[in-house]
Amino acid sequence: MILDIFAQRARSHEGKLQVELAQLSYLLSRLVGRGIEMSRLGGGIGTRGPGETQLEVDRRRILKRIHTIKSRIKEIQKTRKLHRQHRHSLGLPILALIGYTNTGKSTLMNRLTAADVMVDDKLFATLDPTVRGLKLSNGLMALVSDTVGFIQKLPHTLVEAFKATLEEVKGADILLHVIDSSHPEVDRQIQDVYKVLQELGADQKPIISVYNKVDKLSRDEADEKILRVRGRGIAISALKGYGIEDLLEAIRDELQRIKNPATAGVKQSKSVTVHGVQLT
Ligand code: GTP
Repeated sequence: MILDIFAQRARSHEGKLQVELAQLSYLLSRLVGRGIEMSRLGGGIGTRGPGETQLEVDRRRILKRIHTIKSRIKEIQKTRKLHRQHRHSLGLPILALIGYTNTGKSTLMNRLTAADVMVDDKLFATLDPTVRGLKLSNGLMALVSDTVGFIQKLPHTLVEAFKATLEEVKGADILLHVIDSSHPEVDRQIQDVYKVLQELGADQKPIISVYNKVDKLSRDEADEKILRVRGRGIAISALKGYGIEDLLEAIRDELQRIKNPATAGVKQSKSVTVHGVQLT
């Protein structure tokens, strides 16, 4: 079922190929299992080669298709690497939106860049990374890329597809960690995201924690959930547009800090604003 969701959500050519690859690998594993009992039934008639069962023919076809897909994916990944190099050569800072699935990454992307990124309540609305330009008000430009939503247990067959999209994370200057602050398991989701970042070797990157969906919280809940992280985070509602200016300011500060580490720490104790109300 997860594969089907991925199939429906995959938007890029690579995403679709990755899904087909996962589906074929799954099919192959089922065929191999069945082949043992079927081969006892003996050979068939007609189009097959001598001694070749229909299952073996199917298996050979699947393997051939898997081979073709794998080489196409390699080509696409090469192109993507070139694109990434090109982006870096532009010298613009790159921000990557990361976070658990359904936390509002695409909504925030739209809010920030007016991009036509598909927004959907279904899982995995973002299998493929998309990149858009973001104007930071002081004339600064940045590139923002949307990544696949993290989930707790990724099916083994999709790990490759997932890693490929997350190469974007490694190349980013700042990670915008979008958190659904209204989710009952928000803490576990945050931990899961950090685990994945660790696995990717990207946990040392500058991260801005973006507590989204604050419009769904009462003032007390916002207080309790957000202040627990010692005021280090920006509370927003990507849907309603609250807190976007604060976020842009945090991004500008962080970019400044990266460019000039000597000023680090100046803005560290920034307070959190929810619905325009200062919480610290
Ligand atoms: P994946 O691509 O699956 O990882 O999802 P995503 O993180 O990109 O989430 P998306 O932007 O698709 O939003 C998921 C759902 O949350 C949608 O129904 C959005 O309308 C809703 N949503 C996003 N931001 C907010 C917000 O600030 N407040 C409320 N109430 N809902 C929001």
